[in-house]
Amino acid sequence: MKFSLPPLPFTMDALEPHLSREQIYYHYEHHHRGYLEKLDAALKGSDKRDLPLEEIVCTTQGKVYNLAAQVWNHEFLWHGLSPQKLEPPTGKLGDLLQSCFGGKDGFNDRFEHVAEERFGSGWAWLVYDPHVDRLEITSTDDAKNPLGTDVFPLLTLDVWEHAYYLDYKDDRKTYIGKFLEHLINWDFANSNLAKCTNPAQRSATPVQPRDPPRQTRG
Ligand SMILES: [Fe+2]
Repeated sequence: MKFSLPPLPFTMDALEPHLSREQIYYHYEHHHRGYLEKLDAALKGSDKRDLPLEEIVCTTQGKVYNLAAQVWNHEFLWHGLSPQKLEPPTGKLGDLLQSCFGGKDGFNDRFEHVAEERFGSGWAWLVYDPHVDRLEITSTDDAKNPLGTDVFPLLTLDVWEHAYYLDYKDDRKTYIGKFLEHLINWDFANSNLAKCTNPAQRSATPVQPRDPPRQTRG
C-alpha cells in the first residue's frame, strides 16, 4: 500500500464537547481510512499511484477522482480544526474578513448559510481568489474541491452527514455553529493564505493547493 493515513493533528477527544471522541474516531478511522484504502486499491497497477495526491486529484475523473479528493479533503479538514478556541485573525486575513464579509459575524452568517444550503453531501469552503484579492465562501457537492481551479482553499467543513450524525443527528445547523464558534483553526487558514500570496512558502503546507488556475470543477 502506497498511501498511509496521516495522524490526526489532535487527540481523538480533543474537540469535545463540540465533536465527541466517538464522532471523530468513526469519521477518521472508518471514512477517511476507507477512502484511502479504496484509492490505493483503485490505483493498483496505475502509474498515477506514484503521483502526489494533489496531482491525482487534478488529473483524474470519476471513481479515482472522488476517492483522491475525499482523502485530500479530510486531511485538509483535520488541520482546519483547533482544540483551542482561537481568536479571529488579524493581519491580512482579518482585513479580508472585514472587507469581504463585514467581519467575523458576517463571515459566520455567510458560511452558515452556504454550508446549510448545500443540498445533500458535500463541503463548505473558505477560499481566496488571488485575481481579485478577495475571500469567498463556496460549497461543493460530494467529493469535489477547489484544487485545480482559480481559487485557493483556506478552510473547509465537511457537511456529509457522516461528519456529524453521531453527535447531532440530522441537525447540520448546530454542527456548523459549533465549528464557527469553537473549532476554526485560524492559524491554519492564515498559513494557507500566506502561502497563496508567497509561493516560496508553499512547501511547508500540510496539504497544498496547487498553482492556479487550471480548470474549474463545478
Ligand atoms: Fe467526511
